[in-house]
Amino acid sequence: MIDYVDIIVGLAWGDEGKGKISSAMAKDYDMVCRWNGGPNAGHTVYLYGKKYKTHLIPSGVFHGKKSIIGPNCVLNIDKFLKEIEYLKENGFDTSLVKVHPNVHIITDAHIEYDLKHLKPKLGTTGQGIAPCYADKANRTGIQAHSCPELKDFIWDGKLEGKILCEGAQSIWLDINYGDYPFVTSSETFPHNACSLGFSPKKIREIIGVAKIYDTKSGVDPLFPETLWNDVRLNQLIELGGEYGSTTGRKRIVNWLNFGRLMESINLSGATRVIINKCDVLEELGIFKIINFYGLSIDFSSFSQMKRILKDAILEYNINNIKKENIIFSGDKTLI
Ligand code: IMP
Ligand code: MG
Repeated sequence: MIDYVDIIVGLAWGDEGKGKISSAMAKDYDMVCRWNGGPNAGHTVYLYGKKYKTHLIPSGVFHGKKSIIGPNCVLNIDKFLKEIEYLKENGFDTSLVKVHPNVHIITDAHIEYDLKHLKPKLGTTGQGIAPCYADKANRTGIQAHSCPELKDFIWDGKLEGKILCEGAQSIWLDINYGDYPFVTSSETFPHNACSLGFSPKKIREIIGVAKIYDTKSGVDPLFPETLWNDVRLNQLIELGGEYGSTTGRKRIVNWLNFGRLMESINLSGATRVIINKCDVLEELGIFKIINFYGLSIDFSSFSQMKRILKDAILEYNINNIKKENIIFSGDKTLI
């Protein structure tokens, strides 16, 4: 029986630090699951003083918890097996990793098509994501259950106990709600986690993860090229290490767009909000947001900025978020 499901969702354009939150929370759950995307994601986790990077396998594996890749995910077999090897070499129990039989497989042809036609135009991660989901929709795709290389990993169990779902990509990369076509090919909203096979009534908390400034990996007219000319935003790229963990590309940075943040909090139904990378903005020493009208607002101190942001989130959210559930985080390893 499922006790309850908590869902972690990104409130911006990805790269908010969902992996850190998921890893910090995983020990309190029985299973940690992914419901969307594939190796386009990049989760960075710091554990016992060491940095780990994964792209596909949920962070339950770092904490001895069952880690499930759900049927709405897409998987590259070579990359998956390499990630398994990497985890094994680092002493983690990879028998906990399970792949739903209906997961779709990314082929070399998918990657070639992406690299040739999509990456140059849309700035995709070049992982073959869109062509794989296209074949799935065309009913010409290959599913995990038909691949002998995956036979040891195919999941034949069911969801049980306390479940944590780990979002990949984020609200503004969602294929239905993002700035199409500069989006990914899966559904990133928390209700889509139900594709793992549970009723929406089992959802307890929705943990929205944001960042104290905005970044976009890849092309998007919402992040105009002129942002590259801003000296302080460039400093933020370096201080925050804003380089794609899947692609190594420099991410384009802007001040936090508060209107967008409120919209994603309300659309996602977040009941908790964690705002990451506060240490980075504090180090920069410039406390700025873009308000509902697209105007930039400066604060005189970081404590003033945090106080006003918190009050505004409390005022404008429609999810009954409690004051103590809005958290500003400035630590790589802790929430
Ligand atoms: P795709 O998912 O590789 O097709 O890429 C589509 C868009 O989503 C591009 O702008 C990518 O940079 C972005 N994207 C995909 N996955 C991630 C992620 O995990 N973090 C940040 N951006 C991502
Ligand atoms: Mg990431």
